[in-house]
Amino acid sequence: TAPELIRNFCIIAHIDHGKSTLADRMLQLTGVVEPRAMRAQYLDRMDIERERGITIKSQAVRMPWQLGDQAHALNMIDTPGHVDFTYEVSRSLAACEGAVLLVDAAQGIEAQTLANLYLAMENDLEIIPVLNKIDLPAAQPEKYAEELANLVGGDPDDVLKVSGKTGAGVEALLDRIVERIPAPVGDADAPARAMIFDSVYDTYRGVVTYVRVIDGSLSPRERIVMMSTRATHELLEIGVISPDPIVTKGLGVGEVGYLITGVKDVRQSKVGDTVTNAGKPATESLGGYSEPKPMVFSGLYPVDGSDYPALRDALDKLKLNDAALNYEPETSVALGFGFRVGFLGLLHLEIVRERLEREFDLDLISTAPNVVYDVTLDDGTEVKVTNPSEFPGGKIKEVREPVVRATILAPSEFVGTVMGLCNDRRGQMDGMDYLSEDRVELRFTLPLAEIVFDFFDQLKSRTRGYASLDYEPQGDQAADLVKVDILLQGDQVDAFSAIVHREKAYDYGVMMTAKLKEIIPRQQFEVPIQAAVGARVIARETVRAMRKDVLAKCYGGDISRKRKLLEKQKEGKKRMKNIGSVEVPKDAFIAALSSD
Ligand code: GTP
Repeated sequence: TAPELIRNFCIIAHIDHGKSTLADRMLQLTGVVEPRAMRAQYLDRMDIERERGITIKSQAVRMPWQLGDQAHALNMIDTPGHVDFTYEVSRSLAACEGAVLLVDAAQGIEAQTLANLYLAMENDLEIIPVLNKIDLPAAQPEKYAEELANLVGGDPDDVLKVSGKTGAGVEALLDRIVERIPAPVGDADAPARAMIFDSVYDTYRGVVTYVRVIDGSLSPRERIVMMSTRATHELLEIGVISPDPIVTKGLGVGEVGYLITGVKDVRQSKVGDTVTNAGKPATESLGGYSEPKPMVFSGLYPVDGSDYPALRDALDKLKLNDAALNYEPETSVALGFGFRVGFLGLLHLEIVRERLEREFDLDLISTAPNVVYDVTLDDGTEVKVTNPSEFPGGKIKEVREPVVRATILAPSEFVGTVMGLCNDRRGQMDGMDYLSEDRVELRFTLPLAEIVFDFFDQLKSRTRGYASLDYEPQGDQAADLVKVDILLQGDQVDAFSAIVHREKAYDYGVMMTAKLKEIIPRQQFEVPIQAAVGARVIARETVRAMRKDVLAKCYGGDISRKRKLLEKQKEGKKRMKNIGSVEVPKDAFIAALSSD
């Protein structure tokens, strides 16, 4: 297809605002899928995605659309909707010239949508504001059209009103995509430069790579080069998706499609990388490439220790399709053999854990998630800490922690509440805007560690569910952080060590010791539970012994016999002490780790 007739766009929407339903409707109206053959929500492939109602992996579908006497090709590029996948979102946006901003006419815009809208604007995409679900009785199209117009500029009357469910307004939207979104431009005679915006592992075909061609062209059977690694591959197959793969004679300027090279691991076909011809390579890559960087770590352990090899195999399998997943073996006194796993964020963690449990039938315990700390010691040595129990004990010059730029949308009545919460969490306010009379956007710089710890639940419960949150990495900052250890019988329980702000060490210590006291069953002896910063104990609880009254049997004054019995009991206690922490059933650890 000639570039003038191509339109590349994506849909930016909050979860549940109806992106999949609208996409389905478009596929149907353009004749790409027959109504009868239409599988609900064609774009979401994986079960988990469908069940959780989220889209993780982006894909692209090509649709024909006639406007006037011109036959156009529309490429709809699916973007992941969630914060953890900001980098993937940014690459999908970079493959488009325009974006449909889809907002539920009964809900208005949410923080997540706002964040992605700003990304689209930074990428200079043409934005088409659209209100969806206008068939709902609760829809308030006038109110939200005003909000959208304020946000993207333009007239409220210009905001399209559609219903993905009934199909109302969707043809007009397709027309508008052709009218408003610029056609791609590129140099057809230059060496090829195609950007990878997604790559997916397929059991039968190996890695399927989705690309957008910027300059030049790619043809089947030629050799291509991945510019970040200089690795070359043969192009075994090239084509477009509509909605099933259709082999083509190649892809030219502005086109969007897929490549198959026979590689078996998505790490060999990296999102953001530039593909060029091996025979006539481009000198400069497209830019914008970066390695996925794990932001949140957690220890994953099988509940049943004998599942360890199965867990390793399962992680190896997941890794084939998830370039951001990384892990290494770890052992814990409390939990045995497991892995320290790095994730892009909390949702990524949850998804991986759920896939491990569901697809691989594993029962897992995970330690409280933590961020990565950069610690500089007095002698200049730098240490990256991904596991709190490995926080160095020596003289520390500086600790740096990751921070994020958070956007929170809330009804105006909750402004004070939200500011209070962010303040508690060491947040710094960067700004605030009223989107409409009763809705406010607040912007904060917050330590990622604070967000990882229960922030979202707190935000939701304090605003009765009305606030929404999004965040993106914003570098790091120095902070006064200390490690709090939890000791049972004087033995450190590695799984409970945490790195917290000095001012919060006491609170964490009190909370954790109290919780463990509830959970740990009484023993034959007294079990002190202590929280300590370095050698200093900051909180203490005691699980009292089930004291067997060994003296009950001896009446009278036989003091030597009494002493002997007490002596014996002490011996017993000592033995117990030696295996101290082991006496704690694993269930107790699981309970302690999961209840926050
Ligand atoms: P994710 O895939 O989770 O991002 O969600 P989504 O934005 O794709 O939303 P989806 O299309 O799954 O729709 C969410 C819910 O809204 C579903 O229950 C749909 O049936 C419903 N829905 C979608 N579009 C409309 C519409 O135009 N009108 C009405 N009344 N309901 C709609």
